[in-house]
Amino acid sequence: ETSDLVDSYGRVARDLRVSLTDRCNLRCEYCMPAEGFDWLASPSVLSDDEVVRLITVAVERLGIREIRFTGGEPLLRKGLESIIDATTSLRTDLGAVPEVSLTTNALGLEHRAEGLVAAGLERINVSLDSLDRATFAELTRRDRLPDVLAGVHAAAAAGLSPVKINAVLMRGLNDDEAPDLLRWALRHGYELRFIEQMPLGPPEAWTRGEMVTAREILAGLERRFDLVPHDPAERGAAPAERWSVAPSADAPAGTVGIIASVSEPFCGACDRTRLTADGQVRACLFARDETDLRDLMRSGASDEEIAERWRLAMWGKKAGHGIDDPGFLQPARPMSAIGG
Ligand code: GTP
Ligand code: 5AD
Ligand code: SF4
Repeated sequence: ETSDLVDSYGRVARDLRVSLTDRCNLRCEYCMPAEGFDWLASPSVLSDDEVVRLITVAVERLGIREIRFTGGEPLLRKGLESIIDATTSLRTDLGAVPEVSLTTNALGLEHRAEGLVAAGLERINVSLDSLDRATFAELTRRDRLPDVLAGVHAAAAAGLSPVKINAVLMRGLNDDEAPDLLRWALRHGYELRFIEQMPLGPPEAWTRGEMVTAREILAGLERRFDLVPHDPAERGAAPAERWSVAPSADAPAGTVGIIASVSEPFCGACDRTRLTADGQVRACLFARDETDLRDLMRSGASDEEIAERWRLAMWGKKAGHGIDDPGFLQPARPMSAIGG
């Protein structure tokens, strides 16, 4: 018996994003300060069994059909493969295996891609903001570009498909690299998406005026590539607006996307609910409040009691992220702790 996660605006959540850790082995400027944050203490982080229990509740009682694992960096979680394995043994309200995906920086993926596929992982999105080793090291504060590239290629070789690449452009850092990134992605058959930077990292890392906008990104690409927009009717709840890229002298045809979270919010079609590594439900990345499922679960609540608390949390979901509202405040936790 399922009863869906519906909010007061009539949106239904089908997609659960699970953050498995708030830690990361990179320090991307838009995401974290050089020293990192104060990490969650281990007793407050859900165990593998607790994560699987909450995912089971979401799939079996709340109509969730897709699960995305995020972080921080989800590959830092040793139990990732076993959590994925348990997730793909569940069946949704439609009788199908939940679709399982991963958003990762790809460090260490080279050695885990095959095991992840064996566990049931279907596809991955890799954060990669620069193909220039020095720029990558500056932006992420770690000189790890070769490991990331090895991870991406290993993922494709292991059969993960599609491989999507997420690039956040930052003015004066990597904003001149969009064409190089796209050529590289097209040559390898990866789907590149450019992402507008959101105010979810260190508070000083983002200003509206400095943000590289979707409009600028598109204008820059159109100067070098022949783009044809996809039919908007096929977009659904996807954050990315997509274009077909015509083949050119130095790259084959493919697809490119832009995620204009700030300048063209897609909140009206949002189908997401989120679970943090410490067991808090968030109705939105930008929600002001969280609902605790961890202590409820640890105090012996039944699956249905947990499901009911989750439904209540989603009912209060706001219409949009409110970034442009006067008096907008960043959420109390950064994206690395909420889950990307
Ligand atoms: P696909 O199913 O592969 O399209 O996944 P995705 O694009 O939703 O996931 P991914 O983890 O790759 O996230 C890419 C970007 O989408 C993030 O950097 C965010 O900018 C944006 N994004 C993801 N979820 C949300 C959300 O709930 N709200 C907003 N505003 N942006 C989001
Ligand atoms: N704004 C936009 N995207 C961000 N990401 C991390 N922080 C931000 C931010 N402040 C991206 C990562 C990853 C995805 C989940 O979110 O690059 O690809
Ligand atoms: Fe790590 Fe992702 Fe944040 Fe970069 S954006 S520091 S890879 S969590």
